[in-house]
Amino acid sequence: MAIKNLKDLYFDGIKDLYSACKQAIPVTEEMAAAAQNSQLRDALKASVAGTRKGMEAMERIARGHGQNPAGEHCRGMEGLAEEARSHALQAEFADEETQDAAIIAQYQRLAHYAITGYGTLKAFAERLGFKEDARVLDECTAHTYEGDARMTTIAVRGGVNKAAMD
Ligand SMILES: [Fe+2]
Repeated sequence: MAIKNLKDLYFDGIKDLYSACKQAIPVTEEMAAAAQNSQLRDALKASVAGTRKGMEAMERIARGHGQNPAGEHCRGMEGLAEEARSHALQAEFADEETQDAAIIAQYQRLAHYAITGYGTLKAFAERLGFKEDARVLDECTAHTYEGDARMTTIAVRGGVNKAAMD
Protein backbone atom coordinates (compact mmCIF):
# COMPACT_ATOMS: atom_id res chain seq x y z
CA MET A 1 0.00 0.00 0.00
CA ALA A 2 1.37 3.40 -0.98
CA ILE A 3 2.27 5.77 1.84
CA LYS A 4 0.25 8.87 1.05
CA ASN A 5 0.38 11.07 4.13
CA LEU A 6 1.82 11.67 7.60
CA LYS A 7 -0.61 9.20 9.16
CA ASP A 8 0.56 6.40 6.88
CA LEU A 9 4.16 7.36 7.56
CA TYR A 10 3.42 7.28 11.28
CA PHE A 11 2.04 3.74 11.21
CA ASP A 12 4.91 2.64 9.02
CA GLY A 13 7.28 4.05 11.65
CA ILE A 14 5.45 2.44 14.58
CA LYS A 15 5.68 -0.97 12.91
CA ASP A 16 9.32 -0.43 12.03
CA LEU A 17 10.13 0.43 15.63
CA TYR A 18 8.12 -2.55 16.88
CA SER A 19 10.33 -4.74 14.70
CA ALA A 20 13.46 -2.87 15.81
CA CYS A 21 12.66 -3.40 19.51
CA LYS A 22 11.87 -7.05 18.87
CA GLN A 23 15.25 -7.59 17.25
CA ALA A 24 17.13 -5.53 19.86
CA ILE A 25 15.94 -7.75 22.74
CA PRO A 26 17.83 -10.99 21.92
CA VAL A 27 21.09 -9.26 21.01
CA THR A 28 20.98 -7.19 24.22
CA GLU A 29 20.37 -10.40 26.18
CA GLU A 30 23.40 -11.95 24.49
CA MET A 31 25.50 -8.91 25.38
CA ALA A 32 24.26 -9.07 29.00
CA ALA A 33 25.33 -12.72 29.16
CA ALA A 34 28.78 -11.85 27.77
CA ALA A 35 29.40 -8.78 29.99
CA GLN A 36 31.91 -9.21 32.81
CA ASN A 37 31.34 -5.98 34.72
CA SER A 38 28.36 -6.57 37.05
CA GLN A 39 27.08 -2.99 36.75
CA LEU A 40 27.12 -3.34 32.99
CA ARG A 41 25.37 -6.70 33.14
CA ASP A 42 22.61 -5.27 35.34
CA ALA A 43 22.21 -2.22 33.11
CA LEU A 44 21.88 -4.41 30.03
CA LYS A 45 19.27 -6.56 31.75
CA ALA A 46 17.33 -3.41 32.69
CA SER A 47 17.59 -2.33 29.05
CA VAL A 48 16.09 -5.61 27.90
CA ALA A 49 13.11 -4.97 30.17
CA GLY A 50 12.85 -1.38 28.88
CA THR A 51 13.02 -2.46 25.24
CA ARG A 52 10.34 -5.06 25.87
CA LYS A 53 8.13 -2.31 27.32
CA GLY A 54 8.82 -0.19 24.24
CA MET A 55 7.92 -3.08 21.96
CA GLU A 56 4.68 -3.62 23.86
CA ALA A 57 3.91 0.09 23.69
CA MET A 58 4.39 0.08 19.88
CA GLU A 59 2.12 -2.94 19.67
CA ARG A 60 -0.58 -1.19 21.74
CA ILE A 61 -0.35 1.95 19.64
CA ALA A 62 -0.63 -0.01 16.38
CA ARG A 63 -3.55 -2.10 17.61
CA GLY A 64 -5.26 0.99 19.03
CA HIS A 65 -5.45 2.29 15.45
CA GLY A 66 -6.54 -1.07 14.05
CA GLN A 67 -3.07 -1.77 12.62
CA ASN A 68 -1.10 -5.01 12.70
CA PRO A 69 2.17 -4.22 14.51
CA ALA A 70 4.01 -7.06 12.76
CA GLY A 71 3.75 -5.59 9.26
CA GLU A 72 7.38 -4.44 8.90
CA HIS A 73 10.86 -5.83 9.20
CA CYS A 74 13.41 -3.25 10.29
CA ARG A 75 16.57 -3.76 8.25
CA GLY A 76 18.27 -0.95 10.14
CA MET A 77 18.10 -2.86 13.42
CA GLU A 78 18.91 -6.10 11.63
CA GLY A 79 22.17 -4.49 10.51
CA LEU A 80 22.89 -2.99 13.94
CA ALA A 81 22.26 -6.33 15.65
CA GLU A 82 24.58 -8.01 13.17
CA GLU A 83 27.20 -5.34 13.83
CA ALA A 84 26.81 -5.76 17.59
CA ARG A 85 27.27 -9.51 17.36
CA SER A 86 30.24 -9.18 15.08
CA HIS A 87 32.09 -6.42 17.01
CA ALA A 88 31.16 -7.27 20.60
CA LEU A 89 30.36 -10.99 20.72
CA GLN A 90 32.03 -12.91 17.91
CA ALA A 91 35.23 -10.85 17.78
CA GLU A 92 38.16 -12.46 19.54
CA PHE A 93 39.01 -10.64 22.78
CA ALA A 94 42.15 -11.39 24.74
CA ASP A 95 40.81 -9.27 27.57
CA GLU A 96 37.31 -9.32 29.12
CA GLU A 97 37.41 -5.65 30.09
CA THR A 98 38.02 -4.70 26.49
CA GLN A 99 35.02 -6.74 25.46
CA ASP A 100 32.91 -4.83 28.00
CA ALA A 101 33.94 -1.55 26.34
CA ALA A 102 32.95 -3.03 22.95
CA ILE A 103 29.58 -4.14 24.33
CA ILE A 104 28.81 -0.63 25.57
CA ALA A 105 29.79 0.87 22.21
CA GLN A 106 27.46 -1.49 20.36
CA TYR A 107 24.62 -1.15 22.85
CA GLN A 108 24.68 2.63 22.47
CA ARG A 109 24.26 2.31 18.70
CA LEU A 110 21.09 0.30 19.20
CA ALA A 111 19.83 2.80 21.78
CA HIS A 112 20.48 5.80 19.54
CA TYR A 113 18.62 4.17 16.68
CA ALA A 114 15.60 3.68 18.94
CA ILE A 115 15.84 7.27 20.24
CA THR A 116 15.62 8.76 16.73
CA GLY A 117 12.65 6.50 15.99
CA TYR A 118 10.73 7.43 19.14
CA GLY A 119 11.50 11.14 18.77
CA THR A 120 10.29 11.36 15.18
CA LEU A 121 7.16 9.36 15.92
CA LYS A 122 6.35 11.56 18.91
CA ALA A 123 6.46 14.64 16.67
CA PHE A 124 4.23 12.88 14.13
CA ALA A 125 1.77 11.81 16.85
CA GLU A 126 1.53 15.39 18.13
CA ARG A 127 0.92 16.73 14.62
CA LEU A 128 -1.74 14.06 14.04
CA GLY A 129 -3.50 14.85 17.34
CA PHE A 130 -2.75 11.44 18.89
CA LYS A 131 -2.11 12.87 22.34
CA GLU A 132 -1.92 9.60 24.28
CA ASP A 133 0.45 8.11 21.68
CA ALA A 134 2.65 11.20 21.96
CA ARG A 135 2.77 10.84 25.74
CA VAL A 136 3.75 7.16 25.50
CA LEU A 137 6.38 7.86 22.83
CA ASP A 138 7.80 10.62 24.98
CA GLU A 139 8.08 8.19 27.88
CA CYS A 140 9.84 5.64 25.65
CA THR A 141 12.27 8.33 24.48
CA ALA A 142 13.02 9.36 28.06
CA HIS A 143 13.61 5.76 29.19
CA THR A 144 15.90 5.04 26.26
CA TYR A 145 17.88 8.23 26.90
CA GLU A 146 18.25 7.18 30.53
CA GLY A 147 19.54 3.77 29.50
CA ASP A 148 21.99 5.40 27.13
CA ALA A 149 23.21 7.84 29.79
CA ARG A 150 23.60 4.96 32.28
CA MET A 151 25.92 3.21 29.81
CA THR A 152 28.03 6.34 29.37
CA THR A 153 28.37 6.57 33.15
CA ILE A 154 29.43 2.92 33.40
CA ALA A 155 31.95 3.34 30.58
CA VAL A 156 33.41 6.64 31.72
CA ARG A 157 32.94 6.83 35.49
CA GLY A 158 32.31 3.14 36.21
CA GLY A 159 35.80 2.41 34.93
CA VAL A 160 35.05 0.13 31.97
CA ASN A 161 37.00 2.22 29.48
CA LYS A 162 39.86 2.67 31.93
CA ALA A 163 39.98 -1.07 32.66
CA ALA A 164 40.20 -1.73 28.92
CA MET A 165 43.37 0.38 28.64
CA ASP A 166 45.72 -2.57 29.13
FE1 LIG B 1 13.98 0.50 10.43
